[in-house]
Amino acid sequence: MTTHSLFPTLVYSAPLQRARWRAFNHQLLRECKQLRADDEAGRRWSMRGYPGGYTSYSSVSRLHRVSPTFAMLERKLNRHVGAFARSLELDLTGRELSMTDCWVNIMPRQVVHGLHLHPLATISGTYYVQTPKGCPGIKFEDPRLDRFMAAPPRKSDARPANRPWSVLPAEVGRIVLFESWLRHEVAPNPRPAERISISFNYGWF
Ligand SMILES: [Fe+2]
Repeated sequence: MTTHSLFPTLVYSAPLQRARWRAFNHQLLRECKQLRADDEAGRRWSMRGYPGGYTSYSSVSRLHRVSPTFAMLERKLNRHVGAFARSLELDLTGRELSMTDCWVNIMPRQVVHGLHLHPLATISGTYYVQTPKGCPGIKFEDPRLDRFMAAPPRKSDARPANRPWSVLPAEVGRIVLFESWLRHEVAPNPRPAERISISFNYGWF
């Protein structure tokens, strides 16, 4: 008898780099905060689209094109995205995955990042710049959820692969990669300190 595991949903996590990551992370942190101070259009957009927080998603969303530090981040991420694409066995013949967007998210206390996906992208992900102890991770939703119909709920102690939602912790210096169609959210930050992350998209078009 064999029970097959078909159609897996792969999510990749890793440290951005093994050594000397703190100095690079510190420079990213400085630039994230400076960007918020300088980006009036982004702060205005965030008042409506990201209440209580700051995101440059609608104002400065190609940071890898304007900041040498973020361009360096792009080069470091390319290696991870390539490894993830190999795990997914994507056929990219004649094309290559490249970064299309890169933006900053700052979540003070009680700020939430609602359920969403990343349209028109292939692989998306997040690098964690500042993660106060106890801040929320990234919560992924089973992409088949809208088809379950008469399916019973899963046991509360079911294996992670059998649960309808899964949370990966947000840990400073680490990245999470996923296919862009996979819906995800971040619960309200209960900590007084800001949770700061850099999100990005890769496309193959
Ligand atoms: Fe996202």
